[in-house]
Amino acid sequence: MKFFVDTAEIKDIKELAATGLLDGVTTNPSLIAKSGRDFLEVTKEICSIVDGPVSAEVIALDHEGMMREAEILRKIADNVCIKVPLTIDGLKTCKALTSDGTKVNVTLCFSANQALLAAKAGASFISPFIGRHDDNGFDGMDLIRDIRLIYDNYAYETEILAASIRHGVHVLECARIGADVMTAPPAVIKGLVKHVLTDKGIEGFMADWAKTGQSL
Ligand code: G3P
Repeated sequence: MKFFVDTAEIKDIKELAATGLLDGVTTNPSLIAKSGRDFLEVTKEICSIVDGPVSAEVIALDHEGMMREAEILRKIADNVCIKVPLTIDGLKTCKALTSDGTKVNVTLCFSANQALLAAKAGASFISPFIGRHDDNGFDGMDLIRDIRLIYDNYAYETEILAASIRHGVHVLECARIGADVMTAPPAVIKGLVKHVLTDKGIEGFMADWAKTGQSL
């Protein structure tokens, strides 16, 4: 499973990129606002840190506006992936951009039918929002399961990019189901390494090593 980080914070992206575990980055208007940085400037900087796809979301809601903004965004770097909302105009934009070879991430997916439309529009990635689905009383994992089934039925190449991931269990379930990618906040990714028995084990080994009086 590929790991993307869902943030526009340069410090976090650099830290995770240095581990070699990072396959890409996703941003959205809320994350750009949170960073306090200029959209184009911060996207350019992120693209220079990671080789994988960096999702940058259009702001326009109409097809022509989305195409105009996509033109600006895709000039930033070769690894920019244009993110469009799951609307008719978004799907139309997805079709037009992917026909040109541009990578497109269709976002704000909350139903398997929406995911089917995105695949038909040639999306490179579909972003189902698990956490927000759960928040509203639905089972986010059922959504991932349904999309996996449908994409496999028709051998769609659109990658399932599980988004709105809130904790490690979301990551684990996505991996079990076979989501292609998961994008999560830095804290969730860093949290995956933690286990109380790992910490306890290290503590024990260190204490016993000290008893040997040796050094390496
Ligand atoms: O990638 C989508 C993500 O940013 C949404 O996450 O936690 O705001 O639902 P959240």
